[in-house]
Amino acid sequence: MESSIIVAPSVLASDFADVASGLDLINRAGAEWVHLDVMDGHFVPNISFGPKMVADIRRRTTGTLDVHLMISEPDRYVGAFADAGADFITFHQEAAVHGHRVTQLIRDRGCRPGVAIVPSTPVSAIEELLPFVDLVLVMTVNPGFGGQQLIPETLRKVEQLVALQRDRGYRFRISVDGGINAETAGAARRAGATVLVSGSAFFTADDPGSYMATLAGESGTIV
Ligand code: DX5
Ligand code: ZN
Repeated sequence: MESSIIVAPSVLASDFADVASGLDLINRAGAEWVHLDVMDGHFVPNISFGPKMVADIRRRTTGTLDVHLMISEPDRYVGAFADAGADFITFHQEAAVHGHRVTQLIRDRGCRPGVAIVPSTPVSAIEELLPFVDLVLVMTVNPGFGGQQLIPETLRKVEQLVALQRDRGYRFRISVDGGINAETAGAARRAGATVLVSGSAFFTADDPGSYMATLAGESGTIV
């Protein structure tokens, strides 16, 4: 299991009328991953973008595309997002009765499967999927919008996942998503998260590059 900390800026927080500039900011900041929040207005009460946006973004960055599907019936769209150039495709446990089948679909298309859980979903709900995923995304806010406050109780799930990794030898990365900033990143890292998704905090930082280092715990300031 990789233990290096990755900060994944979320394009949702960028200016949708000028996504290219947002991507340039992400690339200049040296981000290795780009988090893409796909929302259908049904699974979550917001609508963002679809496969064409992902394909257009694919052409403008060499970063790992971390596609977060906040959509109903994710199995219907795995192919479209794989064709668009996704690297990780993460679906929500709450939107897929046949989650194992979705992980197979994602792998069959050459992408890396992730499963996400909302704040009210326990880790036990995805226990049977853990051997088959490369990423577990713990939502630390209710999905649908950026700029929310992190729900501290959700970090306990990160600790539970770390214990399962240790006891059963699983190799998935643990991602936290929502309300990650200089004040909350330390607790998320200490809980065991190794992917920190950051939208509003990243795009409002004076120096996004050094802000990423702060979130990752690499800079001098202790967070
Ligand atoms: C929320 C999305 C998050 C969000 C993070 O539904 O999944 O990725 O964009 O934005 P911030 O960092 O502003 O909470
Ligand atoms: Zn997300």
